[in-house]
This record gives sequence, structure tokens and C-alpha cells, in this order.
Amino acid sequence: MAAGSESMGMGAMGSMLATTPILRHTPSFAGPLPIPPLYAGNRAADGVREYRLAIAAGQAQLSAGLAPTPTWGYRGAILGPSLRIPRGEPIRILVHNGLDQSTTTHWHGAHVPGDMDGGPQSLIAPGRTWHYHYTIDQPEATLWYHPHPNGRTGPHVYAGLAGLYLVQDGSAERLGLPRHYGIDDVPVIVQDRLLDAHDRLVYMPQVMDVMGMKGNRFLVNGRESPVLEAPAGWLRLRLLNGSNARLYNFALSGDRTFYQIATDAGFLEAPVALQRLLLAPAERAEILVDLRHLDGKRLWLRSDSAAVVPSLSTMPMDSDAYDRSVFDLLEIRVGPARAPGGRLPEHLATLANLPEIQRERHFSLQGMMGGMGGGGMAGMAALRKAAAKAPRNGPGGMSMGIGNLPLFTINHLAMDMRRIDFSTTLGSTELWEVVNRAHMAHTFHVHGVSFRIQSRDGREPPPWERGWKDVVLIRRGESVRLAMTFTQPASKAFPFMYHCHMLEHEDNGMMGQFTVVRS
Ligand code: C2O
Ligand code: CU
Repeated sequence: MAAGSESMGMGAMGSMLATTPILRHTPSFAGPLPIPPLYAGNRAADGVREYRLAIAAGQAQLSAGLAPTPTWGYRGAILGPSLRIPRGEPIRILVHNGLDQSTTTHWHGAHVPGDMDGGPQSLIAPGRTWHYHYTIDQPEATLWYHPHPNGRTGPHVYAGLAGLYLVQDGSAERLGLPRHYGIDDVPVIVQDRLLDAHDRLVYMPQVMDVMGMKGNRFLVNGRESPVLEAPAGWLRLRLLNGSNARLYNFALSGDRTFYQIATDAGFLEAPVALQRLLLAPAERAEILVDLRHLDGKRLWLRSDSAAVVPSLSTMPMDSDAYDRSVFDLLEIRVGPARAPGGRLPEHLATLANLPEIQRERHFSLQGMMGGMGGGGMAGMAALRKAAAKAPRNGPGGMSMGIGNLPLFTINHLAMDMRRIDFSTTLGSTELWEVVNRAHMAHTFHVHGVSFRIQSRDGREPPPWERGWKDVVLIRRGESVRLAMTFTQPASKAFPFMYHCHMLEHEDNGMMGQFTVVRS
């Protein structure tokens, strides 16, 4: 029952893990999948499309039979509406902070200038409203938004703050994709959470493994074990791994084939038939599932992680029961067909080639026990000490106690808001090589741009990674090469971030800052 058996012989860290038993939950699937409301904003007096996002504390029922859990949300108790953002139209977003502490709201994947990006510098004090205004000009994609306060992104997202940001340019209509939001075009935000005996969120260094905060309850759109009633036809699922630290190797029951049509930041050139799809934290994928002849049938979206763990990490702690098992996330009950249904197009998009590379940069990721002087056990002890002192000021008294310790580094440097790591030129194209020198998997995310993966360990990336991306998984020892063109400016006052999107790594140093300036 406890994870203790897996951590025997691990010394201090083993006994830390053993302090919290990992309960196994296999609740039966019941209750509808919550669908975050689609929100297209309203015309303001000056004619500009305006979105209002009020952040506030609330209570959400995460599973049948549980007490309400104190959470944070945008325009509701948990998560936030799916923003429908038309490409090419000026918009305004007003974010009001109704919490008792400062936070930020970052538009993950959006091509916006640094001062509109909602990074750590854009803190919204309690009771204040931050005005964003910009025009999105990038391909149709499933982006998302979430807080980004320095050192507290992990707990703020974990508390419930996240939502989808759907850039729309008419592609779905042109391609004939399923497009009835919440019916055959369905958001699937997957997150894991740990609850205490009173069904309050638990967020503590003492129960984290080297990847960060993981839980044993799997929420889809904020609800455990929900059911999606879908018409017999093509079903479009917009998958977001919204977890702090956990990877999911998505699969369908019966090893049913599905078709990936989009990566993080846009459509692939053509659908890719898959039976497994690994998504690291913050990665998105859109998939089409063929339910055309399945009226009356049930199937399950699940994670089948067993096979992927060894390639990710050599750390035994990074192997809880769920990392090594198959578990169901969502039940799909197929009902009668509904007209008009969507289709699976043969061709999706033509992806432009990137301009010529003007400059290369090199990044290496170092983790705890991964060659960092002074890290390892000593760092862990410091982390625990800081955590013990941190205020318990999340929803329902949830701890914010991860501290802000340089346990994870990029090019041997931990995040420092006063340091700009480098500057790039507006309009230039660069190749970034990122090498993971740690013993565990990391991810790499860059603000203000989408990138294309040129290679993984010198080889062409697999077909399902050949689209526009903004987060990439980098296995231990692996190196990736990413090409990107900088189209958005970012000043010293509001620089762009690059970081690991495993949120406890990000909060503990694995982040840097750069500016984009006119030549
Ligand atoms: Cu999704 Cu810098 O973040
Ligand atoms: Cu990481």
C-alpha cells in the first residue's frame, strides 16, 4: 500500500517518501465530464473584444463522495474558461486578482510581447487588475494560460489555476474537423492531485519525488473518473498535460488507434496514426478518435506509463506505482450519431520552413545529484527546512512550501530575476541545443515563440513531433536542437523566460531570462 517498499534502502530520501502512504484509488466512472465554458469575450464600449478573468478562491467537488475541496479558479472555483481567441483581431484581457497574495497570468504559447506575457515580472497584487492588450497572429492552436509567479508557479497551478486558450483562424471549419465544442471537440485537461483526510489539497516537499509534486487522483477538467457522452462519429480531443510533474503516455482501451492532428502550437502537416502518445507537463496534442461505428459502446482514455519510465530516469524515486502502471482517466460512452459530424482530413496544414539559422546557443540542464556542487542531499535538507518555514497560505491552508532553492540549474545557473542571461535580435532565427545532463527527464519551454524540433540526439524527430511546439521533453542524457524565429520584443523590464515546465524544477531554479531587441 505504501510507496515505502520502493524506496527501501534510499536512506534519508526513502524515509521521506515513506512518511506519506500512496493510496490507490480506482473509483468507478460516474458523473459527466465538466466542460470549461467557452468564452469569446464581449465587445467593450470602444469596440475591442474584451475578456474578464477574475481569480478567486472557491470550492470544487473533485470526485463523487468527496467533501468540497478548497481551490482557486478563474471565473469559477477551479480551472478557467476556454478562451476563444480570433487570430488577427485586437483583444483585451482584464485579469483581476481576488486572492490574498500576488500572482500572474501567463499566456503559454502565445506570441505576445514580453510586457503582455504575464511572466514573473508582471505580478498582480491582491485586489488589482492587470490589463493585457494585443493581437494574436499565429496558427490555430490549443494554447493555455496559468500563473507564473517566481518560485510559486507550482502551488498556484496546483491550487486550480489553469485554462485553455484556443487560437482560431478558421482552419477547423475549412478542414471539416469535429467542431461542436464540448460535444465532439472536447478539452481534456489532465492533472494529478493528492488530498488529505479532509479532502484538502496536499502540496508539500515531503511527498514529492525528484520530478516534483505528484498525486494519486487523476482529474480531467477538474473531476476524477468522469464520463464523456460522445456521438458516434469522429471525436476531437484537445489533450493538455496540466500536471506539475507527471508524464502521461496516453492510450485508448483495446489499444485502439487514434490520430494526432496537432502539436502544442498548431496542426501537423498530416494526421499521424498512434496507439501511444507521451505528453510531458504543459505539452498539448489534439487527437481524433474514430467512434463512427461504436454506438452503445464504451472505451477509456488511459495512461500506460510502464514502458516509458526507464528511458526517462535512473532515479528509483521517480517510479511511483502510477509511473509503472496503466490507469484509466476518462470513460467515453458512445451515443447516437449527430449531424453534421466531422471528418479526418488527409492533409492538415503546410508548415513553412524556417529562415536560415543566424546563431546557435547551447544550454545544459543540471539536476539535483546531476553534477551540481552543493546540491543533492544538502540541497534537499535546505528545501525541507525552507518548506517548514513557508506560510500555509494556499486554498484551505494548502502549503506553498517549496521554497525557492537553486536545486536545478540551466548552464549551472539558477533563476535570478535580476539577471538577464542573454539578448536576441527581433526577427532573427536561432538554433538552440539543449542537453539534459541530469539523471531525470526534464522539459524545455520558451516564451514568446513556437519552435520546431530539428533533431533528437542527432536524429530526425518522430512524425508526431514535426509540428510547431513550445515545450519539448528531453530524456536523461538526450540532446535536442530547436529552431525558432523571434517575432516579439521583450525588454529588460519584461523579459521572456525559458525553463523546465516540471513546475517544481522551474520553481527551484531551472529557469532563465532573455530579451528580444531591435538590431
Ligand atoms: Cu507554461 Cu513559462 O510557462
Ligand atoms: Cu525539469
